[in-house]
Amino acid sequence: MEHIYHMPQFGENWFTYPNLYRYFVQELSDGSKIVEVGSWKGKSVAFLGVEIVNSGKKIAVDAVDTWAGSSSEEYHQNDVYVKTNTLYQLFLSNISSLSHIITPVRMPSLDAAKLYEDESLDVVFIDAGHTYEDVKADIAAWLPKVKKSGWLAGHDYPWSHNDEVKKAVDELVSPIDQSEGCWIYRKP
Ligand SMILES: C[S@@+](CC[C@H](N)C(=O)[O-])C[C@H]1O[C@@H](n2cnc3c(N)ncnc32)[C@H](O)[C@@H]1O
Repeated sequence: MEHIYHMPQFGENWFTYPNLYRYFVQELSDGSKIVEVGSWKGKSVAFLGVEIVNSGKKIAVDAVDTWAGSSSEEYHQNDVYVKTNTLYQLFLSNISSLSHIITPVRMPSLDAAKLYEDESLDVVFIDAGHTYEDVKADIAAWLPKVKKSGWLAGHDYPWSHNDEVKKAVDELVSPIDQSEGCWIYRKP
């Protein structure tokens, strides 16, 4: 299957981590489960979904988002799809060819984390709220959900706008790897 994430309907080019997502698909086996927290118009999760299709592996992905934009980010709140409450419809339309792999979970991150058993997820990737408080709360909520030898990772480490993501990550998880603007923690 050809990649679709670069098509114009996927909007902003915030997805900087194709090699990391490719690596996760290479490492995981049939029956694995990935959660992406923060999916916006679907660009990053569409890349992941196509990589999974092309791997032939049975890997499931849940995309967690309110599809209301980050409350602290003016850019999100000014987006026409957020303003007209149609971001979720755009996401569903964008990932329609991958709906057998990607399941949307439309709720706040911290509520969504409660849906999963502890140590049940192979990968959780966090790209939701980017304040210190948001990142700290997300790590605290999702880390217990990751299996031993699984990965907890996230975007914008460090983030050009501020160092809040870095501060929260550095306080809660170590040692981390860094790649493609991401922090990556492998649970012992
Ligand atoms: C930076 S965007 C994600 C970009 C996406 N990963 C990509 O590469 O295209 C952040 C997303 O996180 C979502 N978000 C922010 N805070 C959230 C929260 N507390 N719970 C769920 N989703 C949240 C926003 O609605 C937004 O869609």
